[in-house]
Amino acid sequence: MKTLWWAGDALALIDQTRLPAEQTVVECRTYQEVGRAIKMMIVRGAPAIGVTAAYGLAIAARQSAATETGSLIADLRQSAAELRTTRPTAVNLAWALERLLGLAEAQHDVAAVREVLLAEAHHMAEEDEEANRRMGRFGADLVKDGDSILTHCNAGGLATVAYGTALGVVRAAHEQGKRVHVFVDETRPFLQGARLTAWELQQEGIPYTLITDSMAGHFLKSQVNLVVVGADRIAANGDVANKIGTYGVAVLAKENGVPFYVAAPLSTVDMKLTSGAEIPIEQRNPEEVASFAGVRTAPVGARAAHPAFDVTPARYVTAIVTEVGVLRPPYAGSLAGAFASQGSERRSG
Ligand code: MRU
Repeated sequence: MKTLWWAGDALALIDQTRLPAEQTVVECRTYQEVGRAIKMMIVRGAPAIGVTAAYGLAIAARQSAATETGSLIADLRQSAAELRTTRPTAVNLAWALERLLGLAEAQHDVAAVREVLLAEAHHMAEEDEEANRRMGRFGADLVKDGDSILTHCNAGGLATVAYGTALGVVRAAHEQGKRVHVFVDETRPFLQGARLTAWELQQEGIPYTLITDSMAGHFLKSQVNLVVVGADRIAANGDVANKIGTYGVAVLAKENGVPFYVAAPLSTVDMKLTSGAEIPIEQRNPEEVASFAGVRTAPVGARAAHPAFDVTPARYVTAIVTEVGVLRPPYAGSLAGAFASQGSERRSG
């Protein structure tokens, strides 16, 4: 199953706002439709929105009426600026757009720009799945037969093009024949855990127990052997922004001597930021907090807050699983080393 794919003349997305009740597909034919799909969380999860934005820019190149490269690049810059503002925390989005803009600028005619951008979006989609499978293999070494694993939010196939980051680790361990059990935080208020992670694990036949976010401490104390989550942005010092509630899970894990692993591709690492304090935190509609599954629960007029992400300081992170290996603290050195190894791999490959 793929979360997004190119359908000939449109970007097809599984509508994640309707899962698990309905499996429907949304097709985007303009970059504005792509931007709306990201903003409305029809597609969500850091790697998935990165690749989606790449397709969005490839579509923008086809939409533009420009007949010479200068004006096409100007149009693309405008479209990229609009796409970039849809969701600010996951760095994959800006990373993907920069990568495509750089390629566009290196072309000499408009036909080449249009062709190269679509080809690069396809390439990024393939790269994402491949990175997840590699991460899964590295991460599975951290999982023992019989382990109980807690995860927060959805870092599965639905948050990527396919396979998943944190759930990729779980999936790889399961494929190796290890018996694992997953504790799934429901992940208020958007319910990515209850709606999406539970659905994915069910499809895979991986045993799980759904819990409310406030039960995490109880199960970390008694049954959970390790935590694995995804990330939306990792700063150069190893601080990790991920779905709101992750920080609390990390602190509870440390208190209970449970390893806390983050699985994320290098496209989620922002080496320009020295610490997590610089990561922009998206604020979403507080109405989602004042209600549950669309039904209002708080009194009319109640004030609510809805930061969509929090930052877990690096000292709580036992290791970061990437497509080039498992990185350990101190992260300033291991993350820089991972990028250096990736660069040498590219030069030799
Ligand atoms: O708001 P969302 O659903 O886009 O948030 C997703 C997460 O926080 C994921 O854990 C993260 O993007 C990693 S997905 C592989």
